[in-house]
Amino acid sequence: MATPSAARGAWTSRTGFIFAAAGSAIGLGNIWRFPYTAGESGGGAFVLIYLLCVVLIGIPVLFAELAIGRSTEKNPVGAFKKIVPGSMWPVLGGLGIATGFGILAFYSVIAGWTLSYLFKAVTGGFGQAMTADESAALFTQLTGDPVWAIILAGVFILLTIFVVQGGVSGGIERTTKILMPVLLVILVILAIRSVTLPNGMAGVEYLFKPDFSKVNIQVFMQALGQALFSLSLGMGAMITYGSYLPKSENMPVAGVSVAFFDTIIALLAGLIIFPAIFSVGGETSGGPGLVFVVLPSIFNSLPAGNLFAVAFYFLLAIAALTSTISLLEVCVSYFVDEKEWSRQKAAWLLGGICFAIAIPSALSQGGSEFFTSFVGGLDFLSIQNIIWGNFSLSIGALLLCIFVAWKWGVPKAIESLEESGDSLPAKGLWSFLIRFVCPVAVGVILIFIIVTQQYF
Ligand code: PFF
Repeated sequence: MATPSAARGAWTSRTGFIFAAAGSAIGLGNIWRFPYTAGESGGGAFVLIYLLCVVLIGIPVLFAELAIGRSTEKNPVGAFKKIVPGSMWPVLGGLGIATGFGILAFYSVIAGWTLSYLFKAVTGGFGQAMTADESAALFTQLTGDPVWAIILAGVFILLTIFVVQGGVSGGIERTTKILMPVLLVILVILAIRSVTLPNGMAGVEYLFKPDFSKVNIQVFMQALGQALFSLSLGMGAMITYGSYLPKSENMPVAGVSVAFFDTIIALLAGLIIFPAIFSVGGETSGGPGLVFVVLPSIFNSLPAGNLFAVAFYFLLAIAALTSTISLLEVCVSYFVDEKEWSRQKAAWLLGGICFAIAIPSALSQGGSEFFTSFVGGLDFLSIQNIIWGNFSLSIGALLLCIFVAWKWGVPKAIESLEESGDSLPAKGLWSFLIRFVCPVAVGVILIFIIVTQQYF
């Protein structure tokens, strides 16, 4: 007889889970969003606050989500329903599903850009000298075309649908296992090249030497949002993935490994981008196009640069795909579990709706005047990024901490984390962080932002 987890699908092993969860975490958040946010938030001080957010908020919330997922074996809405039937808590799961949708709708647009660049690389577009202006013009050419931007976002959503409809271990696990380690190797090579460019060390200093005069409440909000976004937290993705982890696996080890690799990849991306900016003499606050504009200069300074470009954009597209899969999976798992839809129906219908919502973001980089300068001079995509990627995830994480600490109870969460028989190290510390540090820190940041109205 099939066990409930076998019927829903399950990872075949812990490494399978680690790779899938790391696949969700590692993506455009690390390579596109981290450097661009760090550049807009002043560099070193942001990075320091980001690292604190990962350790003090990200890892505890990650454990909380995994505990809920493993204990209930449900999607985010079903999980809260199972723990506290008849309460308002499932609304928090619903917020997570809406957030997944919101993020997927702009994320797929940037993922589409990686496909444009991949195509450019395959046709031999990198490897010869290109000035900073030429590189910026290339970005506008590749992303500003409204028709292509929409088509490529659509292609990306289609790829995501194909994998998600194939089911959890069949689709997601296999894709990630092989390709993530290759991405890591390419990133290390690019970072070494970038750091050794003339004046490259100035970029390293910018990234790691905190300048506290740059710190304001916005920087805290950005760092918190980035930590949650990068670890795929605050919207139930890790509840969903934790629900597929066999009870016999050691969850704490899996969780810490995911956070560790995710952070390393973000820092590597910083070590690729900033030294190159300081070497070529560009702007650190280049906005959403930053990584795309800066990278060609590194490829062009490498022997066989075009080959690196092909490998890099291919792997970046795969990294983005393993993240979009988790975004869609959260929504699909809800309709499969709670509404008894088939996986196919859920994946195609939800993916289709998401594509429609992605269109304004696809038009926001020059394709349409209206969406390019939408509110306060910001483009539509950047605004979506802030609303869903910073605020919604932070609110989700705050409520989740309150739920685990004060409703479900820390002992039950620990019991779930230790179900495999492996004990959770530093239990007292985790319980202190999830009860006090996380809710207070996230709550204070959100209150400050609301009071000072510095939303963007
Ligand atoms: N963590 C992904 C990244 O860094 O690219 C983005 C993401 C995926 C955020 C899944 C949230 C999520 F639930």
